[in-house]
Amino acid sequence: MNLLDTRLHRLAFAPTLLDLSPTPDDLHGDVLAGLSSAPKTLSSKYFYDERGSQLFEAITRQPEYDLTRTEIALLQHVMPQVRDAVGSDAHVVEYGSGSGRKTQLLLAGLDSPVAYTPVEISREMLLDATHRLATAFPEVQMLPVCADFTKPVPVPPSLMPAARSLVFFPGSTLGNFDDAQSLDLLRAMRETMGDDGAALIGLDLVKDVAEMEAAYNDAAGVTAEFTLNLLARLNRELDADFDLEAFAHRAVWSPDNSRIETAIVSRRAQVVRVVGRRFAFDADEAIHVEISHKYTDAYFDELARRAGLRVVRRWNAPADRFGLRLLEVA
Ligand code: AVJ
Repeated sequence: MNLLDTRLHRLAFAPTLLDLSPTPDDLHGDVLAGLSSAPKTLSSKYFYDERGSQLFEAITRQPEYDLTRTEIALLQHVMPQVRDAVGSDAHVVEYGSGSGRKTQLLLAGLDSPVAYTPVEISREMLLDATHRLATAFPEVQMLPVCADFTKPVPVPPSLMPAARSLVFFPGSTLGNFDDAQSLDLLRAMRETMGDDGAALIGLDLVKDVAEMEAAYNDAAGVTAEFTLNLLARLNRELDADFDLEAFAHRAVWSPDNSRIETAIVSRRAQVVRVVGRRFAFDADEAIHVEISHKYTDAYFDELARRAGLRVVRRWNAPADRFGLRLLEVA
């Protein structure tokens, strides 16, 4: 490559941010509303402050939590098949700012992907992830979009024309949304990917109940600390006075809903102050904080169908511990 090519190359691929100015998260309003409702609820999206993100990384290293390791090994193993199924010149659109191993495996394993668009509501996380990947993949145009991925996202045009868009949504993050929300999300995804597009989604699958519960109740107590960090966050950011010793982490399998349901349970009757308001807790009263849906093919196929999508390829890890699904427009 001569000097001119090199300069054009760099000019061409300077990352440009498309900022759709998504409505920022309203921690204050959401927390007051959630603690005023019956039953009390707080959204799991608020787990991921700096400390929470570190604790989540630590969870993925616990022996009981094998989702992440299993998904990475599966993706690595089936990537040649994903490459053939997706085809060349894809524009990869990732929901959430992928900075890690999975994004690297996908971009490195696809047949000359033309562009990469992380979609993320936090500008800071978005730009961090983009810069890390730009260095690793200089030939892939970085087109970050600051937006809320629960709504359709306009995919920015790439300099090298894309054959299709591929939405990537790994980690079984879909499982943190309830039935109605995940249907809305898949419908938005269908809009985002367009008629010729595809989506690659990672799903944790229903397995032995003891194993599923252990994944959310690790012996080292990292998941408990992750859950209770939400209260620490409210103490820091909303001038709340939660006594972390007076609350407990609880994660149990709900067979009726096919999901792990995580709650923060009050160990005794108590009153907590949050931004100057008082909230009373009964002994054993729960704050519902997270759901982690575990999928069967029957359930997911039906969800996809209702969103105007269909599963065209399925790849499972050994013993059906985790699945990757490739979807196209029905
Ligand atoms: C965000 C879907 C990867 O629900 O399994 C891990 C978050 N919560 N342990 C999940 C989580 C507690 C996780 N995902």
